[in-house]
Amino acid sequence: MNAVRQPLPANLTALDVMTDAPVIPVIVLNDVAHAVPLARALVAGGIRMLEVTLRTPQALACIEAIAREVPDAVAGAGTLRRPEDAQAAANAGARFAVSPGYTSALGAACRAVHLPLLPGVATGSEIMMAMADGITEMKFFPALQAGGTAMLKAWHGPFFDVRFCPTGGISTSNAPEFLALPNVACVGGSWLTPADAVLAGDWARIESLAREASQFRTRSK
Ligand code: 3PG
Repeated sequence: MNAVRQPLPANLTALDVMTDAPVIPVIVLNDVAHAVPLARALVAGGIRMLEVTLRTPQALACIEAIAREVPDAVAGAGTLRRPEDAQAAANAGARFAVSPGYTSALGAACRAVHLPLLPGVATGSEIMMAMADGITEMKFFPALQAGGTAMLKAWHGPFFDVRFCPTGGISTSNAPEFLALPNVACVGGSWLTPADAVLAGDWARIESLAREASQFRTRSK
């Protein structure tokens, strides 16, 4: 099955974002010229939910370029840290948001601009704060450093109704063990877009990494 061919609803939910493909690429772009060919390569490889992190001055322009020129891609914004990032991301054309942590103010700002948010959590209290605001889909960050699959197994008891996107330290070799867990809908990672491949414009390599990642099996769909 090629997920890229499935039509998407106009207003995505966080669950739509998480279940579209097994991996959400975490992308850092320093050059707007790289955004469109990179997005096309990922889409060609079967991955269309693209998290462009707000870590570089060019990030919002990159989201804009992808939203405008790659209709088969869904550009999202990552690394939202302040409430005002939500409006900036929406203005650029982002259709979902990802954050490294959670505040109620950020959650409210994302709701106000209709951006589904995957907030980063690493403790039970953070999960409970996000749940108190109605959020049940979350990023587990930094996944490997904060307890990996053992932590997710422990959370599955009390937080049986929460689904996670573990991110941080995930690679081709350990993604399958995360994706085999019932509370993991997808994983996130930067390994699909290695900085040297982006710099060299090696889109074929990125397409091939995306194709490999798009074929991982998930258990929780
Ligand atoms: C991040 O936000 O930097 C992500 O967690 C990416 O982590 P990774 O580079 O370990 O995939």
